[in-house]
Amino acid sequence: MKKIKVLSVFGTRPEAIKMAPLVRTLAADERIESVVCVTAQHRQMLDQVLSAFSIVPQYDLNIMQPSQTLSSITVRTLTGLERVLEEAGPDLVLVHGDTSTTFAGALAAFYRKIPVGHVEAGLRSFDKYSPYPEEANRRLTGVLAELHFAPTQQNAENLRREGTVKNLFITGNTVIDALHTTVQEGYRFEQPELNAIDYAGRKVVLLTAHRRENYGQPMENIVSAVSELAQNYPEALFVYPVHLSPYVQQTAKAGLSGLPNVLLIPPLGVLDMHNLMARCHLVMTDSGGLQEEAPALGKPVLVLRRETERPEAVEAGTVLLAGTEREGIVAAARRLFDDPAAWKAMSHAVNPYGDGKACSRITRDILYYFGCVSSPASDFAPF
Ligand code: UD1
Ligand code: UDP
Repeated sequence: MKKIKVLSVFGTRPEAIKMAPLVRTLAADERIESVVCVTAQHRQMLDQVLSAFSIVPQYDLNIMQPSQTLSSITVRTLTGLERVLEEAGPDLVLVHGDTSTTFAGALAAFYRKIPVGHVEAGLRSFDKYSPYPEEANRRLTGVLAELHFAPTQQNAENLRREGTVKNLFITGNTVIDALHTTVQEGYRFEQPELNAIDYAGRKVVLLTAHRRENYGQPMENIVSAVSELAQNYPEALFVYPVHLSPYVQQTAKAGLSGLPNVLLIPPLGVLDMHNLMARCHLVMTDSGGLQEEAPALGKPVLVLRRETERPEAVEAGTVLLAGTEREGIVAAARRLFDDPAAWKAMSHAVNPYGDGKACSRITRDILYYFGCVSSPASDFAPF
């Protein structure tokens, strides 16, 4: 029997981390031929993930440019994929989430009338400009997609409200599948400074910030809040793996270098990152992925944004929206430093985003779509 050819297209660090376990699960099924095309919208940060999960893409569009614009990512992806889609001739194209690679990947497949499967479908902030451009990217991808893999019940509900009911599956988030393989007891870090930290004796705060809508005043506020906190809590250690965006690099260095308890380090490999998160006291971030990972590891999260498309962990009480104003961020962090009961209340592990079986559900749902099995996977239910 002819195999179903599934082409997974991704390009940034978070897409790669969340698609890696799925690529492996697809490749392990004898009814499926799994092919990978990376756009390399991120170059170094993508390669870190590919090497951690031993994925060698069949196609690499190598599109990244320094300080690239949204248009250039979209155009270069569309043009590059035209040839790949023609040559590979997949039965299905999978894209993930909400980046420019996601949207342009879905559009390129749609132009060739190849069905698109959208992994991590249905997240919504309901604000077109925040996160920007991600909210529009995921909506547009939803319009183009044929199969929708919603991580949670709420994500599926968002899609239903927009009229998407066909081929809508609730799978859990593949990032939880990835976490199951990366966090290890007794782990030795690749980044040498991380091995020297006394995790039991020191409050380690893991910080990341990179979002485009935070460029400018919000990022200045975040950096200034962290500087104040670092000076007020010298016993704490702030570890900030700084995203390679030139703007983020410059702002982080200008506001935080020279402080003895702020460690500015290059982007971490995913194994280092997940194991650091598992050992830290608190996470401060504007990242989407960290909002899903940290609750699963029982770590409180202060979200450095005005909104979130991931309300489940906020409702579970382990994630708090701290905003992007300096005073708000400082007050929220102070409370967690000064009030052990407040910290403890946010430190219980919850898994609203997945149970580690998202990839096998998605694989089964794909087989169902192509008529290879008689029923789809049962829905992910968190509790
Ligand atoms: C992108 C995604 C965002 C996602 C984020 C994850 C879009 C529009 N944005 O944002 O949704 O949350 O990735 O990190 O798709 N750079 C490097 N090397 C790298 C990666 C980036 O040098 O490995 C630098 C380049 O100068 C690049 C810049 O960072 O131009 C920005 O990268 P880009 O992908 O455009 O935007 P991100 O902010 O990373
Ligand atoms: N991550 C990583 N190294 C880092 C920072 C983040 O491996 O230095 C991982 C993190 O654990 C998560 C993903 O990258 O799995 C999130 O990526 P990012 O914050 O860049 O994007 P977002 O999730 O906001 O789209």
